Amino acid sequence: MNTATPVILDCDPGHDDMLAIMLAAANPDVELLGITTVSGNGSLDKVTYNAQRICALAGITVPIGRGANDPLSGKASAAPTIHGASALDGADLPEPTYDVSPLPAVELIAKLVDECDRRVTLIPTGPLTNIAMFLQAYPELHSKIERISFMGGSTERGNWTPYAEFNIWADPEAADIVIRSGLEVTMSGLNITHQALATEEVLNRILSLDTPLARTVVDLLIFFKQTYQDVFNMPDPPLHDPVAVALVIDPEIARMKFAPVAVELEGALTRGATLVDLYGTTGQEANVHVAMELDVDLFWNLVIGAIARLGAHS
Ligand code: BDR
Ligand code: CA
Repeated sequence: MNTATPVILDCDPGHDDMLAIMLAAANPDVELLGITTVSGNGSLDKVTYNAQRICALAGITVPIGRGANDPLSGKASAAPTIHGASALDGADLPEPTYDVSPLPAVELIAKLVDECDRRVTLIPTGPLTNIAMFLQAYPELHSKIERISFMGGSTERGNWTPYAEFNIWADPEAADIVIRSGLEVTMSGLNITHQALATEEVLNRILSLDTPLARTVVDLLIFFKQTYQDVFNMPDPPLHDPVAVALVIDPEIARMKFAPVAVELEGALTRGATLVDLYGTTGQEANVHVAMELDVDLFWNLVIGAIARLGAHS
C-alpha cells in the first residue's frame, strides 16, 4: 500500500517555488501527482516554462498544467525585482523535455484529485487563483481534499506592501475563498518563512553534494540572495515556498496555532493583508492552522536531502 501523501503543487516558479517542487518530487513521504502554474513571480508563460525547465533539470516527469493568467479581479502584476526578468534568473537551465498537459490547471487538478485513491493535499505557493477556481468549479471534490497547505500572508507585516505579502496581495479574493472554504487550511506566512534563511552555511552544504544539480541550485540561490540584499536589505534570502511542502511531510517541522484568519479585501492601504487573530480578540472561530516557529535544522535536512536524492537520479 502506498503510504505517501498525494500532493499537487500549484506554483509560480520562482527560486523558492523551484525548491518546493524539488522537495515535493524527491521526498518519499509525499507523492507529487502534478504541478500547476499561476502567474505571479512572472507572467504565466514564463512561470510555466520555468516549471518545465525545473522538471528537465531535476529529472521530474509529472504532468504540468497551465493555470490563471490574471487574478479573479483585475490584472496580474509580476515580481521581477525579486526573481529577475525570466522569473528564475541566475543559471542556464535545460530546455523542457515534455509538453504541458492539454488540460488547463483547474481541470488537471480535478482529474488528478478524482482519480487518486486517497485524499489529496493541495500545496499552493503562488497567488491562490487556480485553487479558488477549482474549489468553486468542483464542490463535489471537496471531500477528496485532505488539506490545503499554502505559502502566503503573515502574522506580522508584509513584503509587497507594508501589510500585504505578495501571494495574497496578488489575488486577495482568491485567498479569501480558500481561507473561508471550510477545508483544513494551513498557512505558512512570512513570520515563519523568514526563519528559513539560505545562509552561507546552507549554500555550502548544498555545494558539498557535489552534483551538477546542486551547483545549479546554488547559482540560482546566489542571484536570489543578491536581490534580497538589494530590495529588502536581508543578507540571507528566505526560502518561503518549501516550508509549505515541509509541513505536509513532517508536522514536527513547525509549532502551529489554530487561529481566526481573514483577508483584507477593502483597505485602501492594506488590501491583501492577512489578519491573524493570535489572541482571540475578534471573537471569530479559528479557521486556519498558522505555522509559527520553524525547526530550522529539520527543514534544511529535508530540503538538502531532496536535492541529494534528485542529484543521484540525474
Ligand atoms: C512569495 O512570493 C514569491 O515571490 C515567492 O515565490 C513566495 O511564494 C513570498 O512572498
Ligand atoms: Ca511562489
